[in-house]
Amino acid sequence: MPTTQETPTTSPIGRKTPRIDGPWKVSGVAQYASDFHFPGMLYAVPVEATIANGRVVKLDTAAAEKMPGVRAIFHRENIGKIFRSVLGSGLDGIVDERRPPFEDDVVRYYGQYIALAVAHTFESAKAAADAVGATYAKEKPNVDTNLIADDEPDVVATSFAPTKRVQSERGDPEGAFASAPVKLDQTYVTPTETHNPIELQATTAIWDGSMLTIYEESQGIFNLQGVLAQMFGLPKENVRVITKFVGSGFGSKLWPWTHCPLAVAAARQLGKPVKLVLSRKMMFQSVGHRPRTQQRVRLGATGDGKLVSLQHDYVNHHAILDNYHEDCGEATPFHYGVPNLRVKFGRARRNVGSPTPMRGPGAVPGLYATESAMNELADQLKMDPVQLRILNEPTIDEGLGIPFSSRHFLECLELGAEKFGWSKRNAEVGSMKRGGLILGSGMAGCAWVAARFPAAANVELRDDGTVRVASGTQDIGTGTYTILAQLAAEKTGVPLEKVEVALGDTSLPEGPLSGGSTVTGSVVPAVFAAADQAIASLLTVATTTAGSPFETRKPDDLAFEGGRVFVKADGAAKGVSFADLLRRANVRLVTGSGKAEGTFGAPKPKFSTHSFGCHFVEVTWQPEIARLRVSRVVTVIDAGRIINPLAGRNQIEGAVVMGIGMALLEHTSYDPQNGAPINSNLADYMVAVNADVPPIDVHFVDFPDKEINELGARGIGEIGLAGVAAAITAAVHHATGVRVRELPVKIEDLLTSTILS
Ligand code: MOS
Repeated sequence: MPTTQETPTTSPIGRKTPRIDGPWKVSGVAQYASDFHFPGMLYAVPVEATIANGRVVKLDTAAAEKMPGVRAIFHRENIGKIFRSVLGSGLDGIVDERRPPFEDDVVRYYGQYIALAVAHTFESAKAAADAVGATYAKEKPNVDTNLIADDEPDVVATSFAPTKRVQSERGDPEGAFASAPVKLDQTYVTPTETHNPIELQATTAIWDGSMLTIYEESQGIFNLQGVLAQMFGLPKENVRVITKFVGSGFGSKLWPWTHCPLAVAAARQLGKPVKLVLSRKMMFQSVGHRPRTQQRVRLGATGDGKLVSLQHDYVNHHAILDNYHEDCGEATPFHYGVPNLRVKFGRARRNVGSPTPMRGPGAVPGLYATESAMNELADQLKMDPVQLRILNEPTIDEGLGIPFSSRHFLECLELGAEKFGWSKRNAEVGSMKRGGLILGSGMAGCAWVAARFPAAANVELRDDGTVRVASGTQDIGTGTYTILAQLAAEKTGVPLEKVEVALGDTSLPEGPLSGGSTVTGSVVPAVFAAADQAIASLLTVATTTAGSPFETRKPDDLAFEGGRVFVKADGAAKGVSFADLLRRANVRLVTGSGKAEGTFGAPKPKFSTHSFGCHFVEVTWQPEIARLRVSRVVTVIDAGRIINPLAGRNQIEGAVVMGIGMALLEHTSYDPQNGAPINSNLADYMVAVNADVPPIDVHFVDFPDKEINELGARGIGEIGLAGVAAAITAAVHHATGVRVRELPVKIEDLLTSTILS
């Protein structure tokens, strides 16, 4: 089977390419949103509500206002007008917390901003914010972890939610379940998880008359531009958003949050640049999280393991004002072949800040539940879990009734099993040992949607032999700078170090948001079209310039390859470099623009486009001291053509590490008394760190998906996280005999193990 690592290549596409932005980051020249400084700049620190439900009756700002260096304490009465933004058509005007800051005196979640201190230094602003007193009319917050779906009307108006609570249905799932010879009916729970990018969220806002410039670590600068234009009543072109580097986002920086308009409003009121950087505690309160989910999965199967019924009913919590839908059913309708199926969702309102997408939103908790159910069903059938999956491989996407553009899940399973040594597994619980440790192993499949967002790009060929590629997308740490450079290098034949990349600025052609693992797939056609146009323009210059070696030719007689123009009939050896041609013509540069449509949410797709993959995990269990470790992971991903296997592998490794955190460590707990996220710091909210990370063996199967773009490249940012937790909990069961169905797996859960070493 072809795998990307084995494919030799001379083209920049598919070559292991170190990040071109790496040296900028390690040398400190890369500027993040909070690194920008301007003369006269002021610092803002929000005042956080210390209740999660109730009203602000009185704010006492007198003491804070008198503190040294303080310029203003803003609140409802003096912040000035901040309008509501509305959802535009498609990918425009998206926010999770639609209510602008300070719109009313109602507090709906702990940490909601109720005032804003602005001072000459961050320290003075922080001291002043701490000195603001608030009197509340308090009510008991509802942060109950037992989720029962609220009674909601069937049709719900939100940006990414299905309009019906039954989101997919076929056949007679109840009848088929009732008569199925083998049944499984279990509920799986995933906790609230908080994104913890190292870079804190930050806004620096500068007004120049009616022009607004924002430095923000945004995963979607054009959406932010649109939202701010609406909130401040400006034409869109008056707002410029700049995001050169992002210290990761994982979804928390996709949509604007309320601190951003607060900084903008304060800068407007004071006529000075204002910088606002969140604290880590605020990152747990007011910039989103993955909501808690409860998912009941019912599987019915024949005695030999053929699925006959699948029901997936899930509930996620959401905030008081917002309708966030965690789409746990995203992968359910197509992942396996089953004639009778229903996927249904519900939501439960809680006094929490608005949830938001977190890496692999929906599919990650969803596949944890459905893949865990498949593993349990395999055990019930005394069948190998890989075999169970092979047996239920669908021939088409049965949810949509259309073929897959490219699905190589079975090849992933085959390669993963081989690399892991799955055939040596003894399925009996606690039966495998190594060096005094009990070994457990488990596996799971994964899937993630592959789609394109609309993208535009410019490519310039310049008379010094350099190339510039520009697209207003973002690099959130995933390698977009490098991918854009590779694409431009591929088309223009210049080496990577001669390509300049511009991104992260709304003054550039509109690029895709960095979400849904879509950037790479989206920019390929736009950059290629732009390069083609620049090359066409170059050929015109070559044929119309007096004294050009191609003066007597027509553009059609010429070809461009490896950075050189030549007469087709003569071959490349007699070519002239584009830099030469431009210099002779006294032309500094030729430019091409390219645009590509999106495919996301297309009403009548011909193909179902997804990436697939699987994880095989080994854990070690030491019953004497109740120590569980993930000791080995093999991951195989089918994401079409991999443009940069180095960055790609890095994405998958990072996702697997996050999966270890999801399975064993991460959860945000809310205090039932005051509704505060209690563990709102990196000491108490545990993420997987180096010491938790075993060798991770990543493989890509190389099946280009030409439905997505001409290179066949799908995205890989999120898929690596899906399925990891299900594989780990299966391995935990294999080692300990304990079935954990509520994440994360805790030591207390494992103390019930009766396995002895
Ligand atoms: Mo991702 S959750 O679409 O940033």
